[in-house]
Amino acid sequence: MPYSDLLNPINSFLKCETPDPWVTEAIKPENFSMLLLDHLICELKASQSAMFLIRKYAVDKESGIALLEWLKPFEQFIYKKEGGWQDLIDKNILKKSMLPKSNSKYGQDLIDKMVLLIKEELHHFCQVLEMMDHYGVEYKNITSSRYAKGMLKHVKTHEPDTLIDKLICGAYIEARSCERFAKLAPHVDKRLGDFYISLLRSEARHYQDYLELAQSISPEDITAKVEYFGKVEADLISSPDADFKFHSGIPE
Ligand SMILES: [Fe+2]
Ligand SMILES: [Fe+2]
Repeated sequence: MPYSDLLNPINSFLKCETPDPWVTEAIKPENFSMLLLDHLICELKASQSAMFLIRKYAVDKESGIALLEWLKPFEQFIYKKEGGWQDLIDKNILKKSMLPKSNSKYGQDLIDKMVLLIKEELHHFCQVLEMMDHYGVEYKNITSSRYAKGMLKHVKTHEPDTLIDKLICGAYIEARSCERFAKLAPHVDKRLGDFYISLLRSEARHYQDYLELAQSISPEDITAKVEYFGKVEADLISSPDADFKFHSGIPE
């Protein structure tokens, strides 16, 4: 499937297109390192939040422990600067099959989709590290952008809305990432551009998985909720933002 076909549903799902000034800012040489570093952190956060959801809602205690073990070397690399990045490639293994909690209302579908998603995000994480190595970008700590927090603060505080809202936020983050990879690809070095296009395919599927899960868990039609978060997301993307990042608004 040509990647333009993957983008059509994403572009109609998102309530605004990435503004041109963001693309202009993103392709400036002085922002090259920041974009890769923030992308790296986004891949880790994507795996962490998916893991949080299945640990909280779906899997039994033993499975939860195995999930944390899986993520540990990746978190240690980022938060404690432990280990070399090449070693992480072989660590993307979940050592146990996941079992649902006895009282979980949420099915195997949530577990299976999220486990595959985590595996793919950690693979992307390693691929970004490989790109950083290729382009000579050193890992360093950076602050996170306002984007995800800006959406998550609108998540309802009672169930099952909390879970449904978080899944919808996940869908928007994946869809926006996908749209931005496509925006950037023609303007960057071929190796990086090809990498962005390869990511687009899995992020397009992730966005659909999040949306389908949200609808399957919700007792009601989620259209109004999706609309609501679509507006919140579009506002974060199309309003001024002094902190340039992968998901930032219009550069000031
Ligand atoms: Fe990813
Ligand atoms: Fe993703």
